[in-house]
Amino acid sequence: MTATQVQFKYDIKDIALASQGKQRIEWAGREMPVLRQIQERFSQEKPLAGIRISACCHVTTETAHLAIALKQGGADAVLIASNPLSTQDDVASSLVADYGIPVYAIKGEDNDTYHRHVEVALDHRPNIIIDDGSDVVATLVKERQQQLSDLIGTTEETTTGIVRLRAMFNDGVLSFPAMNVNDADTKHFFDNRYGTGQSTLDGILRATNILLAGKNVVVAGYGWCGKGTALRARGMGANVIVTEIDPTRAIEAVMDGFRVMPMEQAASQGDLFITVTGNKHVIRREHFEAMKDGALVCNAGHFDIEIDLKSLKEMSSEVKQVRNFTEQYLLNSGKSVIVLGEGRLVNLAAAEGHPSAVMDMSFANQALACEYLAVNKGKLEPGLHSIPEEVDKEIARLKLKAMGIEIDALTAEQQIYINSWTVGT
Ligand code: ADE
Repeated sequence: MTATQVQFKYDIKDIALASQGKQRIEWAGREMPVLRQIQERFSQEKPLAGIRISACCHVTTETAHLAIALKQGGADAVLIASNPLSTQDDVASSLVADYGIPVYAIKGEDNDTYHRHVEVALDHRPNIIIDDGSDVVATLVKERQQQLSDLIGTTEETTTGIVRLRAMFNDGVLSFPAMNVNDADTKHFFDNRYGTGQSTLDGILRATNILLAGKNVVVAGYGWCGKGTALRARGMGANVIVTEIDPTRAIEAVMDGFRVMPMEQAASQGDLFITVTGNKHVIRREHFEAMKDGALVCNAGHFDIEIDLKSLKEMSSEVKQVRNFTEQYLLNSGKSVIVLGEGRLVNLAAAEGHPSAVMDMSFANQALACEYLAVNKGKLEPGLHSIPEEVDKEIARLKLKAMGIEIDALTAEQQIYINSWTVGT
């Protein structure tokens, strides 16, 4: 399909990339059996008929399958990028040309374009917002209160977004139901841990082609994403150091066999630094000053605020691109620090994000959360809502089935035992 044949508005890099995008979307679909079953049911039952959805996600082959599921469910959906550097332009193109879904996303878009696309998502007057980081919801609450009456509810799939929604709730401005997709077991145990673990290393390796074995890798943050990153870096032979601010997580990291220390000490030891905290300026001026010459620094947390690039620029006489997504900062001290993916999510900037097999469960949660909001329209209290346990367990069951793995069932005797408090020693 050419640009003139498309009857709706969109903003993508190049519609001519569609055939490559379609091929890659189909490839990803092979590893997304749970979402496929949801797509099939949605196309029969149309649970989202007449519902306007604005989805703000990384525009990847996996997100394409979520967007297709929404459309098959009857939704009038638009898709925008949740990060300026994560869009797969060929996927955006195929969604427009082959699947009839309006997309507003271009890899490398500047901040103004990114915010313009957020406005487009809100101009769609969504009944449901699917958010990844909470930028669309925060803009709605800050700037478009008059549109809140259109809203059935929202869904959020990142830890960062959930932190922001909790802050909104505490400030008394979360006046609608928000489905907490991130905290579903079938989401964070797999996407945050194995997805981030694998895709972060994938991004680092594609950007640099370094050998991880024998390197000192500093992982800042030991939440689920940090755990996965540390685990996989160790699996490749790295000596992993963890930094934390939470004492319980720090003990966990120690007992998982990692060295734990403050960033102030880790700074001079690391060869590669990966931030996954969700917080600001985790690596800053005093850390850059202490780093070895040629230290590599990257981020796998949602926003590009974890590495203080402004200070790094101020400390540098020159910044040069040395490979794709790899910039060398020449410090006034004579040393250099190398930053990957402009301090944005390295797994999506320099690689393709999490593998389809984990996004299958994350996006099954997203699709079913939308259905849950639609079915329960007007009945849910404002605030954060967990994904119902039966939905979470059903996603796990479907995934196991697709993997050809069977598990045990409780015997009648065991059923009675675990539901009883009278049977003891
Ligand atoms: N977040 C992390 N990996 C992703 C992917 N492959 N698609 C969409 N969102 C993601």
